[in-house]
Amino acid sequence: MNNSFYCKSMALFLLSATLSLCFISSSAELQRLEHPVNEDGSLSFLVVGDWGRRGDYNQTNIAYQMGRIGEKLDISFVISTGDNFYENGLTGLEDPEFEESFTNIYTATSLQKPWYSVLGNHDYRGDAVAQVSPVLRKIDSRWICMRSFVLNAEIAEIFFIDTTPFVEKYWTHPKDDTYDWRDVAPRNEYIANVLKDLESALTESSAKWKFVVGHHTIRSIGYHGETKELVTLLLPILKAYNVDLYINGHDHCLEHMSDADSPIQFLTSGAGSKAWRGDIKNDHTGLHFYYDGQGFMTLQLTQTDAEILFYDISGNILHKLNLSKELYSTM
Ligand SMILES: *[C@@H]1O[C@H](CO)[C@@H](O)[C@H](O)[C@H]1NC(C)=O
Ligand SMILES: *[C@@H]1O[C@H](CO)[C@@H](O)[C@H](O)[C@H]1NC(C)=O
Repeated sequence: MNNSFYCKSMALFLLSATLSLCFISSSAELQRLEHPVNEDGSLSFLVVGDWGRRGDYNQTNIAYQMGRIGEKLDISFVISTGDNFYENGLTGLEDPEFEESFTNIYTATSLQKPWYSVLGNHDYRGDAVAQVSPVLRKIDSRWICMRSFVLNAEIAEIFFIDTTPFVEKYWTHPKDDTYDWRDVAPRNEYIANVLKDLESALTESSAKWKFVVGHHTIRSIGYHGETKELVTLLLPILKAYNVDLYINGHDHCLEHMSDADSPIQFLTSGAGSKAWRGDIKNDHTGLHFYYDGQGFMTLQLTQTDAEILFYDISGNILHKLNLSKELYSTM
């Protein structure tokens, strides 16, 4: 065997060993981020969804109120529930819409915090790989968008799930839309890994509060209603691991629903711009609150209490939800 052949095959061997190691570790756990709580042990953040329209459809007015309320609550970060850029996500890393719909709109001081974001179905209609690229942070360092990941915020652990690939009709009947399935296809393998990774992250979690964030609805009386794939595949996991909240966008409304057989609360914050669809389902079982117009949601947490508020375009509080947990003795 000559030397150069030996070197080449050694290099190939090392490369394939490294690749398979990467593959194993990426499918075995979700990427983890950390965010500290405030000095007094509390944590506040804001949730908005379905927003990027270059300021149109009241996006700018909602951004203004987010800034004002964000300042008042001294928020640590913002969560985006997806459909970040309309109509078709970003065209690439250079798409000016990133600044036109994000950087130049959410200008308030209180919003200059990390934006932990997931992708929505509209984001998948553009260059989804670009939208989750860390390169965008060179343009705006707030942008932390990934497919599925865990944010450990000490008292709360927040599990972000990439829900678009779950929805079968986007794969089988995409109408005139095309979806960017790079790094995702094949569907079955991808969603099996996401669910497995979520389960292992939930198993390891010792946080007081456990929230799961995804773009698509589980329970909703809005235009899209339930997402049956998530009811079947994701909801049983949320119940089994005592997840407190499932937070989503997709329906362009503000909404709070609960379940008959588990304590989980379903919160929709998908009203960052275009709303007023006026399309509401008849079955209102488990519904506590529904608002068809623009707005956003805030969460204020301590070890034992969560206060959740929904705001409209004028900063009025439309709905409140308080949850509390017993202080467990370690004995
Ligand atoms: C903007 O918000 C106001 C107040 O809720 C509403 O009357 C109006 O229809 C909204 N505009 C759009 C385009 O949604
Ligand atoms: C909800 O919790 C907050 C903060 O702990 C408290 O100020 C408020 O009175 C509570 N509201 C209700 C309706 O219990």
